[in-house]
Amino acid sequence: MKKSLSLFCLLTASLACFGQAGSKAQLLQLVNKELADASVQYTVFKKELSSDRFPKSYNAATDSLVVSNSGWWCSGFYPGTLLYLYEKTKKQELLTEAERIMQPLSKEQFNKGTHDLGFMMYCSFGNANRLQPSAEYRQILINSAKSLSTRFNPKVGCIKSWNSKPANDFLVIIDNMMNLELLFWATRATGDSSFYQIAVTHANTTMKNHFRPDYSSYHVINYHSETGAVQQKKTAQGYADESAWARGQSWGLYGYVVMYRETKDKKYLAQANHIADYILNNPNLPKDKIPYWDFNAPDIPNALRDASAGSVLASALLELQKYVSKPRSDEYIAVAETIVRNLASSTYKAAFGTNGGFILKHSVGSLPGKSEVDVPLTYADYYYVEALTRLQKILKP
Ligand code: GLY
Repeated sequence: MKKSLSLFCLLTASLACFGQAGSKAQLLQLVNKELADASVQYTVFKKELSSDRFPKSYNAATDSLVVSNSGWWCSGFYPGTLLYLYEKTKKQELLTEAERIMQPLSKEQFNKGTHDLGFMMYCSFGNANRLQPSAEYRQILINSAKSLSTRFNPKVGCIKSWNSKPANDFLVIIDNMMNLELLFWATRATGDSSFYQIAVTHANTTMKNHFRPDYSSYHVINYHSETGAVQQKKTAQGYADESAWARGQSWGLYGYVVMYRETKDKKYLAQANHIADYILNNPNLPKDKIPYWDFNAPDIPNALRDASAGSVLASALLELQKYVSKPRSDEYIAVAETIVRNLASSTYKAAFGTNGGFILKHSVGSLPGKSEVDVPLTYADYYYVEALTRLQKILKP
């Protein structure tokens, strides 16, 4: 009896292991295929782009690529995605194209008119320097961090996001949390702690003023530039001032995960977990975990989805899971896996050579602004590929 029970236990254990290993292997196969597919799809743009233009979106009605100059906040995502895909596939043409497009981008290191230098320069030159460190990349990144730092106002305790009038208005958007990673890198590279201090101060001020008691976040806080007082809490790209714009929730989550990684201060880990709880327990998060464009969109369940909110969320969760224990870590991985599986389905993933060369369909730039509604966007692709690389690392340590 004892013997047959042990045999039963052994068999059950092996089956459980096999089942797990089987599904892990299947998921790894999917992730590998997605990275391989993306590396083919990302050779399409270069045939369409003139020398200093960057992919921005795609107009399906005219079957044409929408492009931008290097000053658009998204200009770093195309080279960044190419670099992630080069890292994974070692295909030289991806690296060559990334290096080509980073040439017209490099002048943005001196751009003091935007808070988006983290997106623009760290996703591009940051990845390039990680893969092939060089004095040139290092200097570009340091100059970018210096330019970004000029937008910091010590009275407010934040980096200014958008220039606006009247002059005393000081607008900070939750997205700005994504630009802090560049500053942490700059302190490591130079030993100058002022970049670090700016990042921490910005994150602390944002934690205080951008979040509601349920840990959803406002999109825009309008501070008084001289007193630092909060003048307004509002939205720009969300449904309403009091709603939870989906991508903003993902930016906030990702931002505080980076804050914890860079500082190891537990308050940022707690903040990230609270934001994750808000998103994952939200009754308006669909079963496939690809958020509607706003968690409070009035036409849910018919509201548009935002693939970019999903890809940023997946990537953030795949890092956050490293800093928490079970069952949280399992939940984060499971949600990220669900997002990746759904983004990899034909509902979201474009067929080869279609969609203007973008990997994913169905993102929303600004619905209230009637701009980039239900279209492909470079950042949806960038964070999808990043999520794939993170998932691959978990599955194949
Ligand atoms: N402002 C950046 C975004 O649309 O998410």
